Amino acid sequence: MTLLTRLAKPIRNYRANQIIDTFRFFIQPNESMLSVGDGDGYVSMRIKEKTGIEIQGLDILPYQEYRVKGVPLTLYDGKNIPFPDKSFDITTGIFLLHHCEDDTILKEMIRVSRKKLIIVEDVFNNSLEQLGLRVFDCVENRTFSSEMPIPHNFRNLKQWKKIFKLFDLKIIRSTQFRALPLPVRNQSFCLIKK
Ligand SMILES: C[S@@+](CC[C@H](N)C(=O)[O-])C[C@H]1O[C@@H](n2cnc3c(N)ncnc32)[C@H](O)[C@@H]1O
Repeated sequence: MTLLTRLAKPIRNYRANQIIDTFRFFIQPNESMLSVGDGDGYVSMRIKEKTGIEIQGLDILPYQEYRVKGVPLTLYDGKNIPFPDKSFDITTGIFLLHHCEDDTILKEMIRVSRKKLIIVEDVFNNSLEQLGLRVFDCVENRTFSSEMPIPHNFRNLKQWKKIFKLFDLKIIRSTQFRALPLPVRNQSFCLIKK
């Protein structure tokens, strides 16, 4: 563990706890989870510690410097999830989808999930907040990686609800929260396939 990651541990724990608290109720013992856009794996590691479930990470980049131990990571092309249909009880995309060019990955996440999806995203209420998100997203993600795609595909709450309806996903719980004490809006969606 580098000095930076050691110093950052309380912040990473705080962020992971805030995120997980929004969907903890949705995870049952013995369920399997695919975490798409797993990044450093820290949130997955904390889910595993809190629930005991097995988690498979999936990403387009390895983030070797930061990557946690104990959550396996598969790398792929960012388009075709390399697992068969319905191979996980839950698929998650935590701050993933605004990094994707279109909805191909969401469709793939639906395909490999048996029933449940968890989506966590940044949302905005007006164009000023949208601009703020763009700036924040660049600063946050470029500190972490120079290779991560940042197309800024942010949606507001209404747009997310429309997309979920289009893909036949029923919202079980939608929670607005702050993963970090910053002036941004985060939204967590617990979804089931209809
Ligand atoms: C903001 S990070 C979030 C990481 C982690 N989920 C978290 O919240 O701590 C976004 C992640 O999505 C990954 N990503 C971007 N496009 C992707 C794609 N098409 N498929 C899978 N992962 C992707 C990035 O490499 C990065 O790890």
